[in-house]
Amino acid sequence: MKGVILAGGTGSRLYPLTRLMNKHLLPVGKYPMVCYGIDRLRQGGITDILLVISKQSAGQYTDFLGSGAEFGVSLTYKIQEAAGGIAEALELAKGFILPGERFVVLLGDNLFMDDLTPYLKQYLQQPQGTAKVLLKPVEDARRYGVPVFDSQNTGLIAYIEEKPEHPKTKYCVTGIYMYDEAVFDIIRRVSPSQRGELEITDVNNIYAADRRLSYDVLKEWWSDAGTFQSLYEAGEKLKNTLP
Ligand code: G1P
Repeated sequence: MKGVILAGGTGSRLYPLTRLMNKHLLPVGKYPMVCYGIDRLRQGGITDILLVISKQSAGQYTDFLGSGAEFGVSLTYKIQEAAGGIAEALELAKGFILPGERFVVLLGDNLFMDDLTPYLKQYLQQPQGTAKVLLKPVEDARRYGVPVFDSQNTGLIAYIEEKPEHPKTKYCVTGIYMYDEAVFDIIRRVSPSQRGELEITDVNNIYAADRRLSYDVLKEWWSDAGTFQSLYEAGEKLKNTLP
């Protein structure tokens, strides 16, 4: 399997720090945030990784990460010219993913303790053309994509509501997604949302409507380090997890 980390975006909730550098380069413990995603992929046996980054910070990424050799991985970089949504960033992985290959996508601000290995193994047993997302119970699901489960208890998601005012479950769809190349055809079927972006939830809802979206629940700590509070907490939690 290959890995794709989406590390573009503007990071407006972390302004003014993100005036200086991209959100995914901000310090978490001893390392820039993006290193933790790279390490989770490496731990899951994924060493061929595409980083989607913004043009303003490309030099800082390559300065710090280089080829990836120091981190035990091989990195490829692609530039997302302007923030146009997660699904638009994901589309840039087309060409990196070869026919028949499967891959895992991480949103670069999603930090977590779980070893991905068992989830990747389960996904590899799913039929071609299906997808999988990882969930986590959260206190306030209104900030996230929230899954509604298939009523027949099939292990499938019926649909996802993006940032609902009244969440129907206590789960958040984390930024950990598994696909094969079929996802690129699905992205082409999605139109920009009200905020003008190609939404990953719209992509996942096409899978869900076709009964092709499975899920698993993370067992350990997870956070999206997109606010000052969660960035601080992530630093405390992860400060001793990398050498
Ligand atoms: C994105 C997704 C959302 C998901 C979240 C996880 O939201 O749209 O479905 O729950 O990532 O971090 P964003 O943080 O871009 O608002």
